[in-house]
Amino acid sequence: MILILLGAPGVGKGTQGQLISKEFSIPQISTGDILRKEVKEETELGKKAKSYMDSGALVPDDIIVGMMEKRIKEDDCKNGFILDGFPRTTAQAEALDEMLSKNGLNLDSVLLIDVPEEEIIERLTGRRVCPNCGAVYHVKYNPPKNDNICDKCSTQLIQRDDDTESVVRNRLKVYQDSTAPLIEYYEKTNKLVKIDGMGDINDIFANIKEVLK
Ligand code: AP5
Repeated sequence: MILILLGAPGVGKGTQGQLISKEFSIPQISTGDILRKEVKEETELGKKAKSYMDSGALVPDDIIVGMMEKRIKEDDCKNGFILDGFPRTTAQAEALDEMLSKNGLNLDSVLLIDVPEEEIIERLTGRRVCPNCGAVYHVKYNPPKNDNICDKCSTQLIQRDDDTESVVRNRLKVYQDSTAPLIEYYEKTNKLVKIDGMGDINDIFANIKEVLK
């Protein structure tokens, strides 16, 4: 199964991606997570990406496409994968089409998760993440059992640098300008399915499972 999770920042792509990954035993490939790891390790790629990410702008297409071409060829992708945060521009979507056809692969579905803008701002400013295992929490909607400590690996949770309100507003603008046109792009392929991202995390996941099965 090859799946794209599409939607504005904070609609729950990462949260649902982790659940889908566990249920169907395929990896969730988050371009944001890969880039944050490169930044943390101060690699050449990470140094190039950092300033874009800090302001909420998109990292240039050629960097992202090169990174993804390598990633989808890794062994764990043999039975499929979930793309979380990629593609984000028409150029990336066209590059993905080419990558898939070159490797004899087919895209199964694009899930467009929809959440109103004011809710997104509350979700992102209240988000906390585990820097060790990547688990995602929310101070109000999905708190860890012990204050600010990851349930899975007991690491102290952190707030992402780009989760401040001003950067979140810029990320939303970038989404509207550069990524929202992909809705029409994938509507034309008849693979786009709209998912209501409001409500309980497990109810949304149950809906996604129905769609995928
Ligand atoms: P990236 O990491 O991809 O960020 P994003 O798309 O902005 O998405 P988020 O991770 O912020 O949100 P999400 O939808 O995964 O929501 P989550 O599940 O965490 O990208 C970061 C940066 O990297 C970009 O700005 C760009 O610079 C660069 N980049 C990445 N990919 C790129 C690409 N392809 N091209 C160019 N540049 C790229 O949920 C959010 C919060 O809400 C959490 O706290 C969660 O617990 C909570 N929550 C989830 N579901 C619910 C619910 N149903 N009810 C209540 N709360 C909920």
